Amino acid sequence: MKTFYITTPIYYPSGKFHIGTAYTTCLCDSIKRYKTMQGYDARMLTGTDEHGQKIEQSAHNAGKTPIDYVDYIAQIAQDLWKTLKITNDDFIRTTELRHTAVVQKIFERLLANGDVYLGKYSGAYCVEDEAFFTPTQLLPGGLCPDCGRPTKIVEEETYFLRLSKYSDRLLKYIEENPDFITPETRKNEVLAFIKSGLNDLSVSRTSFSWGIPVKSNPKHVVYVWIDALSNYITALGYGSHDDHLFQKYWINGDEVVHVIAKDILRFHAIFWPIILMALDIPIRYRLLVHGWYLMKDGKMSKSKGNVIYPEALVSRYGLDAFRYYIVKELSYGNDSVFTPEDFVARFNSDLVNDLGNLLSRSVAMVNKYFHGHVQKTEHQHELKQYERELEQIAEQTIVNYQENMDEFNVAKALGEVSRLIARTNKLIDETAPWALAKNPDLMLVLESVLYHLLEALRMASIMYTPILIDSHPLLFKALGVASEEQSLQNCHFGAKDQYDIGTDVTHLFPRLDVEKEVEYIKALMNDKPVTIAKPDKPIITIDEFNQTEIKVGKVISCEQHPNAAKLLVLQIDTGDRKRQIVSGIAEIALPITLIGKNLMVVTNLQAVKLRGILSEGMILCGEQGGKPVLLEVPSDLEPGSIIR
Ligand code: ME8
Repeated sequence: MKTFYITTPIYYPSGKFHIGTAYTTCLCDSIKRYKTMQGYDARMLTGTDEHGQKIEQSAHNAGKTPIDYVDYIAQIAQDLWKTLKITNDDFIRTTELRHTAVVQKIFERLLANGDVYLGKYSGAYCVEDEAFFTPTQLLPGGLCPDCGRPTKIVEEETYFLRLSKYSDRLLKYIEENPDFITPETRKNEVLAFIKSGLNDLSVSRTSFSWGIPVKSNPKHVVYVWIDALSNYITALGYGSHDDHLFQKYWINGDEVVHVIAKDILRFHAIFWPIILMALDIPIRYRLLVHGWYLMKDGKMSKSKGNVIYPEALVSRYGLDAFRYYIVKELSYGNDSVFTPEDFVARFNSDLVNDLGNLLSRSVAMVNKYFHGHVQKTEHQHELKQYERELEQIAEQTIVNYQENMDEFNVAKALGEVSRLIARTNKLIDETAPWALAKNPDLMLVLESVLYHLLEALRMASIMYTPILIDSHPLLFKALGVASEEQSLQNCHFGAKDQYDIGTDVTHLFPRLDVEKEVEYIKALMNDKPVTIAKPDKPIITIDEFNQTEIKVGKVISCEQHPNAAKLLVLQIDTGDRKRQIVSGIAEIALPITLIGKNLMVVTNLQAVKLRGILSEGMILCGEQGGKPVLLEVPSDLEPGSIIR
């Protein structure tokens, strides 16, 4: 089996994670899922980059020790990736012993073979970016060219990595491996930078202590980039007693991809390959460099009040709406501006009007005219021109989709599927099945049209599988597609020759009220920064805790409370019976999005009437920024399962 190893950058735990970091992570996850569908043994890594002065300062500002602070934020990251159903196989934290011990070894090895040497550095240093800048690189007023903040002059003894020694070898490597850096524009940037001459890189600090100490000279800590970049191999066990993953995915692996944004290009395209050369490790990876999600007024920043966090969007619009939007809107080489208007418009046009409508109309017609059963009819009558055209377009779509996905261009691949969906919708307009249905002589013609709609939908659903995580099983279920008919190998027109479908599908994606939802998202952008957890309530015994009965409840139906805007009235199956619960979650979820969800329900609370409606329990939620956040339970837990 061929192997595939994909990594995100390890993110700084400097606060909550916004849609930019979620973008890279969802992109990697979608690519990993696609590679798995192709039959690869695919592995994904993400994690947190926990050392450095910036983190030390953030911890200090939060009134925490650095380790307490990074423990807390690393958990936020892991919770977020769970919410976004990221299938990472590992999560590396640079404060873990499996990483720190190996970084120390790496540093000593570089020192021993002369690639690292002790010297002195004086220059303008930016704490935010953890980097020194030469006078020519600084902006007027001595400001940092990357973030625009003031720099300070720092002089210190430091170890240097001999970059200059490797620059010719690196140039040769980049020229001989044209796929090493994608897209081409980023490669050219890197080549120009190397050709302008590489200065040796400062790789240790004595001015702060929150880092990995240099073993042979512990007053120095390893400068964050040697520490951070090594995560890609320490997580595979490189340098440890068990390095079988490193052997499998790196040394003998088939494909390795590091996905990053343009901000950390040089580190990955120059420093990392040179570190690998100095360690005698082959450069196995390709570098995929994407642009940034920006806001209308520039970079996202908490101080501007223009940050948007994934959790709130997922909670209100569902996971697939979020993943679909972020992965589709940003294509390589460009930046993209997030606007609430685009988010809502994309949802309504692609998911509601095009995909959702095509599915519900097609299924309804097959049920109405053929009692849910249609089959391939081409042996009984000649295909019409419009059908041949749809078949050709569908076949071309899967070719283009795979070509783009193989080049990791997920946005473009999704564009191909959208075109197929649009063409399939057009087939309904062209053939007007409701008119064909009026003429009993045209039943074969009608059956053939409907079969074509379902085949195109089946193929689109296969192609959407790595992106529409929650909906693709619903699509297949609505179409009655068995698991072997869901594979990429069977993503060809006619691979399924008959359909037995079930009940009509109402709304896979509910239409959004544009004005209302744009306002809602704008309000989210003014979310407060992360707050560190307050001290807990008084200690209780396990017996006291056990007096609360908490069960898994599946939402059967849900509607707005007639007398209170903030309340929803839910009918919930809690295993023993159906109960009615009134809950204050209207501001975070539309009623229709809750149906079928598994939630945590307190079932032994005294029943009360809330604004005139009986409530027989309570739905448990988290709270963030003063707003409830739904706590979903895995769908394989039966209603009524005890939570303790
Ligand atoms: O740089 N749009 O961590 P970081 C798109 N720890 N992607 C964005 C983005 C945006 N607006 N903002 C962030 C670091 N990203 C280092 C990395 S790796 C060995 C060490 C994504 O938390 C994008 O992938 O600043 C970018 O490269 C990364 O987050 C930077 O994350």
